[in-house]
Amino acid sequence: MIISGTELAKELKQNVKERVETVKEKYGRAPHLVVILVGEDPASQSYVKGKGKDAEEVGFKSTTIRRPADITEAELLQLIETLNADDSVDGILVQLPLPSHIDEDKVIETIVKEKDVDGFHPANVAALWQKRPCTYPCTPAGIIKLLDKAKVQIEGKKAVVIGRSNIVGLPVSKMLLDRNATVTIAHSRTKNLAEVTKEADILIVAIGRPKFVTADMVGDGAAVIDVGVNRDPETGKLCGDVDFEACKDKASVITPVPGGVGPMTRACLMENTLECFLRRIQGA
Ligand code: GUN
Repeated sequence: MIISGTELAKELKQNVKERVETVKEKYGRAPHLVVILVGEDPASQSYVKGKGKDAEEVGFKSTTIRRPADITEAELLQLIETLNADDSVDGILVQLPLPSHIDEDKVIETIVKEKDVDGFHPANVAALWQKRPCTYPCTPAGIIKLLDKAKVQIEGKKAVVIGRSNIVGLPVSKMLLDRNATVTIAHSRTKNLAEVTKEADILIVAIGRPKFVTADMVGDGAAVIDVGVNRDPETGKLCGDVDFEACKDKASVITPVPGGVGPMTRACLMENTLECFLRRIQGA
């Protein structure tokens, strides 16, 4: 079974849209999401465009701020401070990665946690790892929702996550652990990786290499979630971290690229933005 992220994201966004109509009547304005794009990386441009489009679709006010790649770190931090202080802004997202002369950690820490729709602020990350109320980062949240939608049991299952990034690998591992999966975090230097991944009931792949996961790495009946967005070096087309054609007959459920995790990340961003808006406006 192929799990369509596009379809589930549509349902989630429809729900956000309906809630936005209600909150607009109640509070007199819509949530406002500001996305900052530094430089002209084509992938980042396309992600930011998608986020703006979804924000408008659900009825948010949406602002995209573009800055050149040679913006100084101080200028970027100043821009964030201005948005932090602007009461009409509910969510601030700086698209990553940033040019190497800018310290990403500093940027992430500068966004006030109340407007941190990505869930990347250290205070939020600590809350996630300490099982306190937090904003779930968008891609991990989208992955869990896809598994639930496909009725994949998580509790008691063996989950293998390939990748250990702050954005996907680490938080999704923690979220699976909190759902009582037994979680193995593997990575590019894991020895005998196929032996590890073959044992997985749930295989999450976020390593950023085109068609990295081959059929011999997937156990029969596994649920395979592909977080990768790459260019196929042979065809130039978008492809995931999983060789979809080779793996789809072994998996019980599998996500396509495009149309899998990507749209879910954006839908969860819309949910997070609405939640940040509500918490701020209700003074919680
Ligand atoms: N770059 C890749 N994924 C993300 C994300 O979820 N948020 C931000 N801000 N940048 C990203």
